[in-house]
Amino acid sequence: MSAPIVLGIETSCDETAVGIVRGRTLLANVIASSVEEHARFGGVVPEIASRAHLEAMQPTIEKALTDSKLSLKDIDAVAVTAGPGLVGALLVGVSAATGLALGLDKPIYAVNHLAAHISVDFLTHDKPLDPTIALLVSGGHSSLLQVEDITSSIIKLGATMDDAAGEAFDKIARVMKLGFPGGPAIDLLAQSGDAQAIDFPRGLTTSNDWQTRPFDFSFSGVKTAVARYLEATPDYAKANVAASFQEAIVDVLLLKSVAACKATGIDSLVIAGGVAANSRLRALATQRCDKAGIRLRIPSPGLCTDNGAMVAALGSLMVAANRAPSPIAFDADSSLPVGVISLS
Ligand code: KG4
Ligand code: ZN
Repeated sequence: MSAPIVLGIETSCDETAVGIVRGRTLLANVIASSVEEHARFGGVVPEIASRAHLEAMQPTIEKALTDSKLSLKDIDAVAVTAGPGLVGALLVGVSAATGLALGLDKPIYAVNHLAAHISVDFLTHDKPLDPTIALLVSGGHSSLLQVEDITSSIIKLGATMDDAAGEAFDKIARVMKLGFPGGPAIDLLAQSGDAQAIDFPRGLTTSNDWQTRPFDFSFSGVKTAVARYLEATPDYAKANVAASFQEAIVDVLLLKSVAACKATGIDSLVIAGGVAANSRLRALATQRCDKAGIRLRIPSPGLCTDNGAMVAALGSLMVAANRAPSPIAFDADSSLPVGVISLS
């Protein structure tokens, strides 16, 4: 018997995304983004996102079925992001997924968006990813996690105390008038800059911080330092600022990730979430993990930012691990903690 087919729906932010997997094989990954409608506001506007999800939901499901040459009756299980995210946006995906599961009389897995970001790695490697340390860096979250079993046990080692890494990229890009979202623009600009040109601060890395908050992050200091530098230096070299700022963020993320591997004795690191698409983070992670003897896994850049394949991947892992599906009536939870992998 071939592996079950899982359809995953993601609507936690501005992407209406549907992925379909058979076991660990990706069959379809369709994304409709409303990012252009938010760009002039410099950030995602929840009401606009919810309306865009409503319009895009059905065509996105249909396109995923067409791309995978399947029909609805071939789907064995439905997975959906239940949180964290914008509540109005989540509700659109949850309603669609619940309707599908009820109509098809198939199980539903209401899963955690953050665990799904990590799970997508499973589509590109044959070996199980856990146990592993995971660095999860997105627009809303930056955490270091100890993943014992991606379907049942994720322990939070640390998290950001203020901005998420992606948020810091977006805010600095806004000050530098590079557009929204800022991460890809800074990544590109930094490629022609000197990362050593300006020594921006590395948050929470004093010896006292290493004692008391070894796995937490803080990006507000570097953000303020960049803003002050820009104000004080009217003819600043854009590419050097982008490269030096990016280096300060990436350096701390990796210092703490390698330290978490050493402290726990786990020699595996997965980097996931939108910021994992960053080219400098990917290159420096390879160097540092090689040096420290850590096995590194980072999903391809297109699977790092929000997508439906990651939700389907986690659903597929839940099915394979014989985890109980979620009850059909569940509430989306905008602040679902990372340790709650699926709703039961
Ligand atoms: O995971 P994601 O797509 O959505 C959330 O769950 O938040 O992450 C979006 C974040 C944005 O802040 C965006 O600027 C950042 O990921 N991002 C990047 C890059 N691509 C996306 N940050 C740095 N470099 C990139 N290449
Ligand atoms: Zn995300």
